[in-house]
Amino acid sequence: PSTLRVLAIESSCDDTGCAILDGNGTILAEGLHTQQSHAALGGVVPEIAARAHLAILPGLVAQTLADAGLGLRDVSIFAATTGPGLIGGVVVGSTYAKGMALALGKPFMAINHIEGHVLAPRLAAHLAGDTPPAFPYLALLMSGGHSQCVLVMGVGRYKVLGGTIDDAAGEAFDKAAKMLGLGWPGGPALEVLARQGDPRAHALPRPLLGRAGCDFSFSGLKTAVARLLEPWNGPDGLQALPQAAAADIAASFQQAVGDCLVDRLNHAFAQCAANNIPLTTLVVAGGVAANQNLRARLAGCAERHHVRFEAPPLRHCTDNAAMIGWAALERLRARGWGQRATAALTVVDE
Ligand code: KG4
Ligand code: ZN
Repeated sequence: PSTLRVLAIESSCDDTGCAILDGNGTILAEGLHTQQSHAALGGVVPEIAARAHLAILPGLVAQTLADAGLGLRDVSIFAATTGPGLIGGVVVGSTYAKGMALALGKPFMAINHIEGHVLAPRLAAHLAGDTPPAFPYLALLMSGGHSQCVLVMGVGRYKVLGGTIDDAAGEAFDKAAKMLGLGWPGGPALEVLARQGDPRAHALPRPLLGRAGCDFSFSGLKTAVARLLEPWNGPDGLQALPQAAAADIAASFQQAVGDCLVDRLNHAFAQCAANNIPLTTLVVAGGVAANQNLRARLAGCAERHHVRFEAPPLRHCTDNAAMIGWAALERLRARGWGQRATAALTVVDE
């Protein structure tokens, strides 16, 4: 059993997370606080989020340590998300972790949030007792803030094959949901509504479909939804939009997003094949990966390309600190530092 203890913090958006992992990647404790105050404001307000992280962190860290039955002095390494994300929150979380590391004379590891997401499926497989997906694999990250297709060649070896040129996938879901009067964040509600609708009811655009590369674009789709809603838009907002009409729009929107994602992934697979990259797996992460309809379509895409499909359970798919601690461990292992005395480690900052 490993005596290494990593305490990780995540604070790049509206989730404040703290997790403690041992050197084998076993989660000793994890805590997550999702800030509720943003819903009423229709989106994450960066300043409010940063202040909330600051207020939540001391209690959350203390609780996570208590849950693990550990004291602060038992921590060997501190890790935190240092970007990308909302800068206020990133500064709060990473400075908090650095402060603890400095006070205790322990190393601090700066972790890239996207790296956390794309390695999370390996953590999930490890926790489930399965063999983690082997490199190289393709990772599709779809959250409220990011949409990226990443070729994961190994730990620290990533190639971004494509990203969104306008809205993130989750953002598109949220904006469409807002127009349909579903509140914020509306992705989950839109998925539920879409189940009652006809995905072929409206011929919405499929931005970039068939184009080279694997970039994404969702803003045209959002505009098309706005146009469909025009007949119901009065001076005070939506006027009595019938449920069936709303469901058809939701289903058509979701279908269009799925078509785009699958098309873009087909391009990514083709690009990898052309470069003789022997992909083993398609992994998905980010809040949008919770969508059952999209998940099924992406799993189908993986099957057609003869690779394994991995989607972590929701709590490690969306923002969380365990994936940050896991990424820190992966980096340590990749450097051959896995079980070595932590005194030999210096500050790892990238
Ligand atoms: O990864 P995440 O929890 O947070 C970050 O943005 O980092 O992703 C949240 C996003 C939101 O835009 C939310 O609407 C979307 O994921 N989402 C969904 C579903 N569940 C969450 N979108 C579509 N269908 C869902 N079931
Ligand atoms: Zn994220």
